[in-house]
Amino acid sequence: MIEQLQQYKEELEKVAVKSAEEVEQLRIKYLGQKGVLKELFGAFKSVPNEQKKEFGKQLNELKNLAQEKILELKSSLSDQGEEARAVNDLTLPGNYKELGARHPISLVRQEIIDIFAGIGFSISEGPEVEDDWHNFTALNFPEEHPARDMQDTFFVENKNGEEDLVLRTHTSSVQVRIMEGGKPPIRTISPGKVFRNEAISARSHCIFHQIEGLYIDKGVSFADLMQTLQYFASEFFGPKAKIRMRPSYFPFTEPSAEVDVWWGLENESDYRITKGTGWLEIMGCGMVDPNVLTNCGIDPNEYSGYAFGMGIERIAMNRYGVDDIRMFFENDIRFLKQFKSAF
Ligand code: DAH
Repeated sequence: MIEQLQQYKEELEKVAVKSAEEVEQLRIKYLGQKGVLKELFGAFKSVPNEQKKEFGKQLNELKNLAQEKILELKSSLSDQGEEARAVNDLTLPGNYKELGARHPISLVRQEIIDIFAGIGFSISEGPEVEDDWHNFTALNFPEEHPARDMQDTFFVENKNGEEDLVLRTHTSSVQVRIMEGGKPPIRTISPGKVFRNEAISARSHCIFHQIEGLYIDKGVSFADLMQTLQYFASEFFGPKAKIRMRPSYFPFTEPSAEVDVWWGLENESDYRITKGTGWLEIMGCGMVDPNVLTNCGIDPNEYSGYAFGMGIERIAMNRYGVDDIRMFFENDIRFLKQFKSAF
């Protein structure tokens, strides 16, 4: 009997099939109601006691082998089948690979950069972890001055007790680095991330992006600033874009202004976006304060200049009609998919 078991095993090891039918026949032969295994299990009781152990072991092995083999043969046949079908059926859809898209903040940032690059501005960057001097002091925020509270600051723990470090609260810090490091004429824009210790809501976030602009030369006036910003607005928002300036205060500019762009006031969403005024605030700006020039090693009697700083999220929100700033940071693929663009 044990020899017969061995023979069955060998047969199974060697078996080859060409069709599903042959596999089915094999299954019936071994695993069917009247199959080999059923019969052998039935014969177990007539095996002499001293052989029972060995016979039982071999019988189980044969059963496992038969089950495995049949599964294996089935799956190899179905693989071949699919492959053959895929090759023959040219109407099957291809393997669709989804293309990524640029983030809306990157798109808007690039568009703004292109506009200013087109009128001769270079692009500059500075560190996100900044020292107190570049973020505040050089920009005419005196120590302990309440103006520092205009921007809720994240302080960076400083183990060595050396200079105070912060996560920069604005890209105006880059102005200082550029002026310290170069001679006028300077004409540059500095895009980057900024950080404020603010509660996250639909309208504000603790991380956002700004683009800073700086132009220093002999005889630069407020009229130059207005012209440049009007040009920017008409390039970005369209030829009919109107801007207005409202007097404001920043420690590093004098005079200072905030810039609104005319958005329109025709429907409910215009009311909501512009808080009922039709105007949308897009940036702060002004003439660089003489103290700032002096702090950065530029003689205010010889040179003057303007600066501006705009929030990219704010501009992207109105460009795309997004009414919750948090969407830009959640990276929900359903949101991001909507901003497909040519790379
Ligand atoms: N740094 C200001 C802010 O974060 C924006 C700003 C205002 C930048 C006036 C400027 C400027 O360069 O001249 O709110």
